[in-house]
Amino acid sequence: MSSVSGLKRAVLFLITVYVSVPVLLYMFPWILASVIFSHMLRFPLMADLSRPENFLNHTRNFYLHAEGGVTLGVWHTLAASQWEEAHGGSPEWYRETLADDNPVIIYLHGNEGTRAQEHRVALVKILSAAGYHVLSLDYRGFGDSSGEPSEAGLTTDVVSLYQWVKKYSRQSPVYLWGHSLGTGVATNAAVKLQEQGSAVDAVILQAPYTRIGEIVVRHRLAKVRVCLSVCLSDCLSVPVSIKTYICDICLDVTTAVF
Ligand SMILES: *[C@@H]1O[C@H](CO)[C@@H](O)[C@H](O)[C@H]1NC(C)=O
Repeated sequence: MSSVSGLKRAVLFLITVYVSVPVLLYMFPWILASVIFSHMLRFPLMADLSRPENFLNHTRNFYLHAEGGVTLGVWHTLAASQWEEAHGGSPEWYRETLADDNPVIIYLHGNEGTRAQEHRVALVKILSAAGYHVLSLDYRGFGDSSGEPSEAGLTTDVVSLYQWVKKYSRQSPVYLWGHSLGTGVATNAAVKLQEQGSAVDAVILQAPYTRIGEIVVRHRLAKVRVCLSVCLSDCLSVPVSIKTYICDICLDVTTAVF
């Protein structure tokens, strides 16, 4: 008996979640935006982004003023072959190196964390060793950049950085490299630049997606649903067939929300 009433409670709970979560997200769209961008998760914690030397050699930190009054934190890492000349290089000197014919990569990271995150720094080291300039950008609302993220805002940030690079890069090719969420930003920005008559030399997409909903269901944050169903089925000690049913409902909840 108790397991039947427990099951009723569980089903009622799931129906409530099923109805209330989409309504809540509809009423407060910023919740969904915060989940997707996860910009509040400033990994690595306590990192001083103004001191890139803690993470990368021959790298300068600077702040770019983008459209909409936001200030964006950017690291400019030189090709590793220039490590000697780079020692003590002034901001002007760093800017001028952009015209040295080494290709320039604007690196657009994925959601959560900052430009100092370990796997991002590791990629920058590889690209730098391969002879590229790398500009790692923290979009608005990420890292030490001001403002709040939005799809349009992130695109604007990339267009602003691209235009800044083009002011100094002369004949050097300029590429956009997007990772995960950054692939959407890279393609949006490339289209916008094309429309403005300034085509990007290449767009590189690492781990791209076709629909954000497909990633969300597979994202580790979505594992909340697994935890929920396991907990419910365990504490109710319901038959195996019902357990599967509850899992299915949970999956549906996630898919419905995103
Ligand atoms: C900078 O380069 C030196 C010499 O190659 C190396 O020992 C050091 O670990 C590098 N620093 C960082 C932050 O990667």
